[in-house]
Amino acid sequence: AGIFTYDPGFMSTASCNSAITYIDGEQGILRYRGYPIEQLATKASFLEVAYLLLYGELPKEPELDDFEGVITRHTMLNENLKDFFQGFHHDAHPMAILVGVVGSLSAFYHDSLSVHDERHREISAHRLIAKVPTIAAAAYKHSIGEPIMYPRNDLRYCANFLRMMFATPCDDYEPELIAEKALNLLFILHADHEQNASTSTVRLAGSSGANPFACVAAGIASLWGPAHGGANEAVLDMLLEIGDVKEVRRFMEKAKDKDDPFRLMGFGHRVYKNYDPRAKIIREVCHQVLEEVADVNNPLFELAMELEEIALNDDYFVERKLYPNVDFYSGIIYRALGIPRNMFTVMFAVARTVGWVSHWMEMMSDPGNRIGRPRQIYCGPDQRDYLPISQR
Ligand code: CMC
Repeated sequence: AGIFTYDPGFMSTASCNSAITYIDGEQGILRYRGYPIEQLATKASFLEVAYLLLYGELPKEPELDDFEGVITRHTMLNENLKDFFQGFHHDAHPMAILVGVVGSLSAFYHDSLSVHDERHREISAHRLIAKVPTIAAAAYKHSIGEPIMYPRNDLRYCANFLRMMFATPCDDYEPELIAEKALNLLFILHADHEQNASTSTVRLAGSSGANPFACVAAGIASLWGPAHGGANEAVLDMLLEIGDVKEVRRFMEKAKDKDDPFRLMGFGHRVYKNYDPRAKIIREVCHQVLEEVADVNNPLFELAMELEEIALNDDYFVERKLYPNVDFYSGIIYRALGIPRNMFTVMFAVARTVGWVSHWMEMMSDPGNRIGRPRQIYCGPDQRDYLPISQR
């Protein structure tokens, strides 16, 4: 027996030291390696941010060139991996495919699996950042019955991803700049968020010495839930269900009713008790993207803004400090870019892979790293004796 601090949901437990991401939830501040998210989102490229999260400093020009070259070289998948996709049911959710195929990478890349070798760790990190987008796009292609598109290495990271999603062997596709820029921004905003459920999952899995492909697969599984990364898909489902501005108040009442499981998706956050700084940026960009891309999605955006307006002035939400989070508006942009709903959480996973591997790298090079092993407060029966089945 022992005395342990009871902290369900780890509301007040710091599980590690980390120099990667800083959040002040009361003030609504988010910084990667000290840089405000607002500056990175508007000025940097996704791979520049990936380098920053991974190595701690913004890259100088030759360093970024090298990094882009390395990531680009690793975008291909082992050809045998294609058979894995064929094994999935034709309408499998792309997140289900992603969990499985990323986990299987450890069966292909044995030459970088020694987790105590710094160079191996780095190669695995590069492989994950490079290959997850290829797998994600292939999962989508499988779900719509189209042939998988190979990466084209003369394209930038986000443009390459869009092309793998939307080109076909008989009809090439050049992504519009606005789409590439919007994706770059969304990926930066989703790249890391300190010890959230999926990142903590990656760390916990990795603390036992498990290989990084297996750890990231565990992170993807955790991300899928609607309280975490699955919220972006759930927000769109919710907006479509509400359907009309006139219905907003009825759904607000449902969200407040404790006997109704309905929650306002995209609202509330464990750490932010203020407007999520990422949501603020996305809301801004939403205007821009919807203006430049066909405006068929505007009704949903208007509905979302109306919902936000009502919630921010409602006592229930004000008292509980529930504000829009990163996922409230992201789905509307993804939809405007032509990305289907069941890919939203996959998009989150592509971006967050950078955060996951950065945390895994940080943990593995920390001499104080020990296996993660939470305790519990036992609340089961006291000792009792086994009875033969005839006497029970
Ligand atoms: N709609 C209605 N009520 C809510 C909501 C919501 N979206 N979020 C929290 N509440 C209420 C909750 O019922 C509770 O009320 P009471 O104190 O009367 O029991 C109070 O607010 C505190 O909520 P909690 O569930 O104890 O807070 P938590 O920190 O455990 O959960 C959360 C945080 C994000 C899981 C939750 O706010 C939620 O379920 N939000 C909707 C899902 C969502 O948008 N998730 C995306 C999170 S951001 C992206 C990411 O990082 O993954």
